[in-house]
Amino acid sequence: MKKNATLRHEGFSVGIVGVGNIGGLVAHGLLQRGVSRVMLYDIQHDRALGKAKDLSQAAALGDFPEYRVHAVRSCEELTACDLIVITAGKPRLPGMNRQDLLQLNQEVLASFAPDLMSSAALFLMVTNPVDVLSHWWLQRLSLPRNRIFGLSGVLDSGRFKALLAEALHLSPRSIQACVIGHHTDAMIPLRSSLRVHGFPVSSDMLSLETYRSIVHATRHGGAELVNLLGTGSACYGPAEAVLTMIEAVVRDEKRVLPCSVYLDGEYTVKEAFCGVPVVLGRSGVERIVSFPMDEEEASLFSQAVSSA
Ligand code: LAC
Repeated sequence: MKKNATLRHEGFSVGIVGVGNIGGLVAHGLLQRGVSRVMLYDIQHDRALGKAKDLSQAAALGDFPEYRVHAVRSCEELTACDLIVITAGKPRLPGMNRQDLLQLNQEVLASFAPDLMSSAALFLMVTNPVDVLSHWWLQRLSLPRNRIFGLSGVLDSGRFKALLAEALHLSPRSIQACVIGHHTDAMIPLRSSLRVHGFPVSSDMLSLETYRSIVHATRHGGAELVNLLGTGSACYGPAEAVLTMIEAVVRDEKRVLPCSVYLDGEYTVKEAFCGVPVVLGRSGVERIVSFPMDEEEASLFSQAVSSA
């Protein structure tokens, strides 16, 4: 299906580092969204080459003649991209938490960081643990903070909304709900953000018990999928979330989306990455949006960030 076929973004190029499940789905989603310059890098070059050929054939079949996807041999060839999505690294296995991947995935990122030092791209980090690795990447490349943001709240809020929609028997499109904090089991789904078409949700519509079980399922949504899948983690939800974030940038939407970003005093967090609502546009993280939390949420948030 051609989504927004009238919106073409031929000048904008996206590099993807690591073309496993999420990277491949993002590359395919870009094709459907009219972002037609895509470069793939993978440590296993044949994998990138195979995906690029497959995607080119899909573009021909789906009548997207302007789509150009290339597999590159060196990560350095991504330097000129406008936006680089980093999905390289290992996913968790059942029983692991995202933090257990730190050493291994930091080594993976360190292996190609030198190739991207001179790039002026925006970076969208997917590799876990995303908050810690986004911070590491910002420091390693000496980036200004608008140029690096991580996947967290868009995915977590999507899971939260999907569960709320099911419980309320409503379309997820009628529901607004936001998850902030780290992309860990201590993330914070915000009750105060919950609205149905702009209206607050009463306890008649959603009992406290149901709400609590939804919060629990949201926090453990990633782990649940890791356990069910057995050999990897979620890919469709993360890819859709990444595409939402890329679209906000490419179209300069100034859209408010929760992302893992560098905080320097906002939300009382100093010099660390954490998920909060930000304005995403062509310059990346254009603004951090500060909003009031209720007392319980503020206390949960400060506990979560101080124990991270
Ligand atoms: C998840 C991974 C992307 O939550 O962290 O599914």
